[in-house]
Amino acid sequence: MSGRVVIVGSGQAGVSAAFKLRALGYPGHIALVGEEPAAPYQRPPLSKKYLTGVADADRLLIKARSLYESERITLRAGCRVAAVDRIRKQVLLAGGEWLDYDYLILATGATPRRLPFDQGGDAPNVHTFRTLADAERLRTEMKSGRSLLVVGGGYIGLETAAVARSLGMEVTLVERDQRILGRVASAETAAWFRALHLANGVRICEGAQLQRQAHGDKDGTTAWLANGIAIGAHAVVVGIGVIPETRLAEQAGLRVDNGIVVDSAGRTSDPFIYAAGDCARFLYEGRPIRLESIQNAVDMAEAVARSIIGGAVEYRPVPWFWSDQYSTRLQIAGLNHGYTDVVVRNTSDTARSIWYYDGPRFIAVDAINDAKAFMTARQWLSAGHSPDAEAIADPGVALNAITVSDQNALIN
Ligand code: APR
Repeated sequence: MSGRVVIVGSGQAGVSAAFKLRALGYPGHIALVGEEPAAPYQRPPLSKKYLTGVADADRLLIKARSLYESERITLRAGCRVAAVDRIRKQVLLAGGEWLDYDYLILATGATPRRLPFDQGGDAPNVHTFRTLADAERLRTEMKSGRSLLVVGGGYIGLETAAVARSLGMEVTLVERDQRILGRVASAETAAWFRALHLANGVRICEGAQLQRQAHGDKDGTTAWLANGIAIGAHAVVVGIGVIPETRLAEQAGLRVDNGIVVDSAGRTSDPFIYAAGDCARFLYEGRPIRLESIQNAVDMAEAVARSIIGGAVEYRPVPWFWSDQYSTRLQIAGLNHGYTDVVVRNTSDTARSIWYYDGPRFIAVDAINDAKAFMTARQWLSAGHSPDAEAIADPGVALNAITVSDQNALIN
């Protein structure tokens, strides 16, 4: 055996990198070091099936426990990496042990933003929501007849609100901006989800600034909005975005700028250190981005593994995401950053797709209960094709009958 790879972070990106290295025939030692005590698990179901009790923790596992042994991946769960020594090519574990590496992969993910202290940031019944431990705490709070205040109208907030309603809770959602889904989706998509949540009995306050929250106790809390409205709730879930986990990279002197800066092969400013997943910042169509998605965690980690094996790699994602709320499934392909036009295609009363264009170039779709639109859009995006916008707007024209143009020809 030769070589040692140490992977910091045992989320989807870390696990994908470890198993891909083996699948590609990497012969050396692979250590997967993760701070969370649980065996690596999938996060997306936490705010969906897991919270309703439909899925149990074993069904969340990314890989069966036995596979770590059979693939010779040393899983160090419940173990924090405290520092990186780039000169000696070693990492220091919190317990004082040093691990050597030839290549280091930072898959450190992201941390939920918290509310400031006077808005209840540290109160016992105020929860952020990212880990299995968070979901377990929330499961005990989320019961029929109780009330929930959700702060933040992104996917975390909306998915939690949907689960809470399905469990029979009374739910109020407070969004600071003028509308929900402001960071990720168009007004058209937000309008659909607003209507869906209102129809399901969620009280939504948009453009509502949370000003203060009582510290609260196990029986509940009161939050005050800037307009003087008081909201009482047994529990509060805060979904106000995440911050990339870059502390180790910063301490090691790597280039960091809203994420660990990497090149198209996932390499940081140190050629022996890579980064992948939510924590990594890279160029997408010339723009620096981070992608917070399973697709990116898996594909980027696998690209990093190929690069370590010695392949010439250029990671070019076709991003996709999804969100389940009540019985509605939203599937998103592409990235709508910088869109100039939106075209709505109403396939039926319950299915709609929202198509984003940057000038004439098709860049992303939000497909609501419309898997066909999602699949077709994804293929077009992968192939660099832009469908004719007028035909998209007409649900009478079948998707497979729509004329497409080559996107490269549309860039001036
Ligand atoms: N009060 C109310 N709303 C706020 C506040 C605040 N103080 N601060 C931010 N918000 C709102 C934002 O305007 C935004 O609409 O919270 C919302 C947060 O949405 P996102 O940034 O999309 O983050 P979140 O929903 O927390 O998701 C975090 O988890 O599942 C993944 O894809 C998801 O990667 C994303 C991450």
